Amino acid sequence: MDLSATLAGVHFANCVMNAAGALCVTRDELEALGRSRSGAIVTKSMTPAFRDGNPSPRYHSFPGGSINSMGLPNLGSPTYAVLIPGLRQFGKPVMASIAGLEPADFLDVAHVITEVRPDLIEVNLSCPNIPGKPQIGYDVEASRSLLQRLNGVITVPMGVKLPPYFDPAHHEAMADMLREIGVAFVSVINSVGNGLVVDPERECTVIKPKGGFGGLGGSMIKPVALANVRAFWKLFDGRVPIIGTGGIVSGMDVFEHGLCGASAVQIGTVLVDEGVGVFERLERELGEVLARKGYRSFAECRGRLREL
Ligand SMILES: Cc1cc2nc3c(=O)[nH]c(=O)nc-3n(C[C@H](O)[C@H](O)[C@H](O)COP(=O)(O)O)c2cc1C
Repeated sequence: MDLSATLAGVHFANCVMNAAGALCVTRDELEALGRSRSGAIVTKSMTPAFRDGNPSPRYHSFPGGSINSMGLPNLGSPTYAVLIPGLRQFGKPVMASIAGLEPADFLDVAHVITEVRPDLIEVNLSCPNIPGKPQIGYDVEASRSLLQRLNGVITVPMGVKLPPYFDPAHHEAMADMLREIGVAFVSVINSVGNGLVVDPERECTVIKPKGGFGGLGGSMIKPVALANVRAFWKLFDGRVPIIGTGGIVSGMDVFEHGLCGASAVQIGTVLVDEGVGVFERLERELGEVLARKGYRSFAECRGRLREL
């Protein structure tokens, strides 16, 4: 079964890759992704300097999914700039995720990382976890101004990682702006922001930062993720490649993302919980689903969702 994907001119032997933030902070983790069946090596969202992130516990998984408030722990862009050339030995695309607490941070990181030419850069407009900072992806004008400036700096295919939107007017406004900027791909969705999970026995929150509020991931967010993949697929008429992220725990979930319009997918929670062996399982399950349904490739099912 052909599970490959081509996105912004970059070839991925396997359409399933890690989501930014999932087992991709350290050199060891990035190399383990390189040796795994992940279709790419996506880095943790990086900032200009090293960050420890928020106090622990800051990630908690439970049967429905996960909640986290990591606070962008990362090694800092100068260190990733040193690591990225070495990651090429694994013969798969390297995607650098860039972030910041303010626009100047994104530009600083973009300058440093463009120099070492990752295959793609994913601009994280949707980090919900810095106390006191709204996520930029919920402000179309702030996003436009940032992306315009980044466009002048980044010379590899640049895509955006977006937060979930819950209103068609927001999908439209964002899609109009992204069309105008001319992004190479759209990655949806980041964590569903500011949920609260409670431990009723201990009568307390399950994570420490932000009074227990955090970004949700895992199975429970799949319908929100599929809606965002589908909305952008339709708004772009299938002309801007979409990376579907959110709620994938099985090969069938990958197939559903494909039907809604995803060219490739990323996994967060299930990767953190299961480790890099999960790629083999998903590959096997997706292959079985596609074969049973008479498809010859993952690409063939893209966008084929029937509307009743
Ligand atoms: C521990 C953890 C750290 C994350 N860090 C980042 C990050 O640095 N940048 C980013 O764009 N998304 C980050 N995310 C969001 C994931 O990339 C993904 O969009 C989200 O978890 C939804 O996918 P899932 O349902 O497979 O978990 C993080 C998620 C988790 C669970």
